[in-house]
Amino acid sequence: MAEKVYNFGAGPAMLPEPVMQQIQQEWLDFQGMGVSIIEISHRAKEFVTVLEQAQSLFRELTGLPDNYRILFVHGGARMQFSALPLNFSGRVPSKKCLYVESGNFAGLAAKEAEAFCSMETIASSVDTDFDRIPGLASDLISQDAAYLHITSNNTLYGTRWNQFPETGNVPLIADMTSELLSRQIDYNKFGVVYAGLQKNLGPSGMAMVIVRDDLLGFADQKTPTLLNYTQCDKDNSLTNTTNTFAVYVIKLVLEWLKQQGGITAIEKLNEQKAARLYQVIDGSDFYRGIAQPEHRSIMNVSFKLASEELDAKFLEEADAVGLYALKGHRNVGGVRASIYNPMPMVGVEKLARFMEEFERKSG
Ligand SMILES: Cc1ncc(COP(=O)(O)O)c(C=O)c1O
Repeated sequence: MAEKVYNFGAGPAMLPEPVMQQIQQEWLDFQGMGVSIIEISHRAKEFVTVLEQAQSLFRELTGLPDNYRILFVHGGARMQFSALPLNFSGRVPSKKCLYVESGNFAGLAAKEAEAFCSMETIASSVDTDFDRIPGLASDLISQDAAYLHITSNNTLYGTRWNQFPETGNVPLIADMTSELLSRQIDYNKFGVVYAGLQKNLGPSGMAMVIVRDDLLGFADQKTPTLLNYTQCDKDNSLTNTTNTFAVYVIKLVLEWLKQQGGITAIEKLNEQKAARLYQVIDGSDFYRGIAQPEHRSIMNVSFKLASEELDAKFLEEADAVGLYALKGHRNVGGVRASIYNPMPMVGVEKLARFMEEFERKSG
């Protein structure tokens, strides 16, 4: 048999193996129905049960308070970059929405919002190539804004917010695409949390939006129906034909997460996995971490070698031994190990040893 491949891709990313096996097992015959889950109506009671199970598992695993709604929406995370100002800027007469630019997706979210609200970028770390989360003095957060948007984990650079900002009365909105369900979060601190599915949740092309219920009902009249979160909530995410397969996979991933011991257990494991890689990076001059140490992500570990040629050699040799998709994003270069929830410690250990060995050979 070929060598076991560990997939370090940033997304679409690896899924837990037991989830893939269950999909395969049930593919032709979902729960004795004689048809596949993707062949039944999104309004069939069997599918609606799957959707509601996904919602209640999410609630159970995260301790999500009752006053938050869980939506499954189209268009991945980037579609929400438009949906957010359309749904929430109308909360205040000025339509002022605040953004923190901590990376390229954070910047794209802000740029997209410009068309629908009065967008203000109040902090940025572009001056240091996004190697950190920018400082955010509380007086920058005008209390008459509709919301403050942050990107909690910056996938390209491997930085994250360790402590979330205090925003007073301004709802905090977080793009958690590359870290949802990887650590304990106090949802009470947030007005909205959203994530594209393709890292910790399931297939690409859809997103989950968690929204505090008092923020619904303010959508701009021109909001397209399928971007209107209030409508989506009224229809329990079934305004039109949803991606039934994606919702089914989310449910399986959440069941798997529960079996792993839930978020407390996975967070501990995620910390150990990241610590092992940072230990190699910090223990040598051969690897140079991209993120400043106090801003490091535990989901995306980004680093560079001494030259682009050495980066390329590292990637080629890693690929040859089953360490797949480690190439850094084209904006950043170097190497990026995305170690989302499904990545087992044994995969990380294999990468850490490969890094040590590569340094011995080439350093
Ligand atoms: C933090 C973050 N936000 C947004 C996106 C865009 O997600 P999508 O491709 O689902 O629109 C990504 C994709 O990697 C991401 O990492």
